[in-house]
Amino acid sequence: MKPKVLVTRKIPQEIVEKIEAVCTVEMWEEEEMPIPREVLEKKIVDAEGLFCLLTETVDSALLDKAKKLKVVSNMAVGYNNIDIEAAKQRGITVTNTPGVLTETTADLTFALIMATSRRLIEASRYLHNGEWKTWSPMQLTGQDIFGATMGIIGMGRIGEAVAKRAKGFNMEILYHNRNHRPELESKLGVQYVEVDELLQRSDFVVVMTPYTKETVNLIAERELSLMKKSAILINTARGGIVNEEALYRALKNNEIWAAGLDVFETEPVSLDNPLLSLPNVVALPHIGSASIKTRLKMAELAADNLIKGVTNQKPKNVVV
Ligand code: DGY
Repeated sequence: MKPKVLVTRKIPQEIVEKIEAVCTVEMWEEEEMPIPREVLEKKIVDAEGLFCLLTETVDSALLDKAKKLKVVSNMAVGYNNIDIEAAKQRGITVTNTPGVLTETTADLTFALIMATSRRLIEASRYLHNGEWKTWSPMQLTGQDIFGATMGIIGMGRIGEAVAKRAKGFNMEILYHNRNHRPELESKLGVQYVEVDELLQRSDFVVVMTPYTKETVNLIAERELSLMKKSAILINTARGGIVNEEALYRALKNNEIWAAGLDVFETEPVSLDNPLLSLPNVVALPHIGSASIKTRLKMAELAADNLIKGVTNQKPKNVVV
């Protein structure tokens, strides 16, 4: 008998077929709405594999209901939605999708750098609102990217891909990471500094660190107060790494220049979130990895990991 797997969102048909060749697939068909928790709890009971997204909270209460589960395959590189310890204790393998989304997420990070520094969204609205009456010397002026200093907090794969792009803009690149990256220092000329120095010296502070107990509110009031008034904060990692109330105050009081945010503490972000009311915020709905090719690669990799997990082979991307 084929192992039963639960897929928590509609994924491309070609990927479904690939899984179906080996497994019996039960899929939540809604594209716009995540699987309700009570449905997930019911369907997980006899599933041997779970293909999930960052919209599903896989905690110990859910894992307790799963009587046959061998693998949780997350279609994301981040896995803060999964209680890794709880899975480990129960002997359940957890996998993610690193590597395939690196360049796409770095592209989006750079798009935010450009949009915030040159006020692209604000300028476009200005035109569409019929406010463009003349050309004037300081109209809609922003900050330069070429030759500026970038500070990358979290120099993993995506941080490195952002640094490569920054080289093309002749930027000075500072970084902070759990481990020094001497090979990158010689290859890209990036310089390791402590977080405070990075915040003080950077024109662009780019948050790229994983979301863990240690990085919750890593950027809060004190850290924002160290940044230059002309500096821009970019977050394409996870919302909770930045304290949103402190960020709102810093932006509102012009203590920093702007923020580009692809991620929020609570997602989808509420339209009442005060950050959305600020002209110097460019906000996106967590689309870092959202290119067609990359999302297909992520789904395919997650499917491979799932299939390996339920057929007692070692998946390629094991977290635990
Ligand atoms: C991830 O993979 O963790 C992103 O946030 C979604 O692509």
